[in-house]
Amino acid sequence: MKRNYSNIKKAKYYLDNNECVAIPTETVYGLAGNAYSSNAVKKIFKLKKRPFFNPLIVHYLKIRDLQKDCEINENFIKLYKKFCPGPLTFVLKLKKKSKISNYVTNKKKTLAVRFPKHSITKLLLRNLDYPLAAPSANLSTKVSAVEPKHINEDFGNKVKFILQGKKSKIGIESTIIDLTNKPKILRLGGLEIEKIEKEIKTKLNFKLSPKKISAPGQLKLHYSPGLPIKLNVKKANDDVAHILIIKRKNDKKNFFYLSKKSDLKEAAKNLYSVLRKIKKSGFKRIAVEKIPNIGLGLSINDRLKRAAKFK
Ligand code: TXA
Ligand code: MG
Repeated sequence: MKRNYSNIKKAKYYLDNNECVAIPTETVYGLAGNAYSSNAVKKIFKLKKRPFFNPLIVHYLKIRDLQKDCEINENFIKLYKKFCPGPLTFVLKLKKKSKISNYVTNKKKTLAVRFPKHSITKLLLRNLDYPLAAPSANLSTKVSAVEPKHINEDFGNKVKFILQGKKSKIGIESTIIDLTNKPKILRLGGLEIEKIEKEIKTKLNFKLSPKKISAPGQLKLHYSPGLPIKLNVKKANDDVAHILIIKRKNDKKNFFYLSKKSDLKEAAKNLYSVLRKIKKSGFKRIAVEKIPNIGLGLSINDRLKRAAKFK
């Protein structure tokens, strides 16, 4: 990918001055600020209208930088070696001497950390002397952003700078694993739990229930396009947007494909842009075809179930 150094410089300028900048990642776009600066971190919460009790993920380039802030352990090293950089977030113990702002963690003694894979964001991190706190770049409870234009849709010109990248390759947020005790999945996401289980040789139970409180930010309504959603629908009326993953013979105006061949990777990549597109095209209700509950299908269903809490 062609790297635009003047944009990296611009992003660095804003971040060094405690402003928030939108950054591309392989999962979804993030709304980033200096994780060591309470001033910067407070601005993230304000822009997103996010409650302060919901802690942020901190993004690092290298293990060496992370070790200034967190205790690492054996499982972390195994998973880091296999999957990082990539769509996996670890919850680790925060070191006492860490400079992470109290606003990032809501004074918790743990920290969620991630190593993003996107080349532009890696280059940005290489040029900073602090890690980046970055939640997904959307308004709280709404659908995440996977393209720069989605950030404008949510924030207008309130975000000082958007570091432009292409559409996020994975399209849904990272999988979160808590490694502070017995490994536990807190959020399903872009890395299949089957792959994690294989690596740490541990069975990870994750119950697909939107009622379950795991990560603090997984409460109640989430990922919502602001329209009622019905799941496992074979046939929908013409006035209902029908989300599909298998190609139909004829096309219809209310058909929105996540994939045409039940490819779950492709479906995850398209999920948020399709939800945003439906909202913009004026449909008032959404019906979703059954999506297999395996691999990334689990993560897609988890998001759709939470979004379906909107009545
Ligand atoms: O893919 C991603 O993870 C994206 C990109 C931008 O990196 N970020 C993202 O951040 O999805 P956000 O803020 O939208 O979701 C972070 C989740 C929230 O549900 C939050 O409650 C949880 O991580 N979390 C953060 N710190 C935590 C901690 N110390 N313990 C448990 N959960 C934590
Ligand atoms: Mg989010």
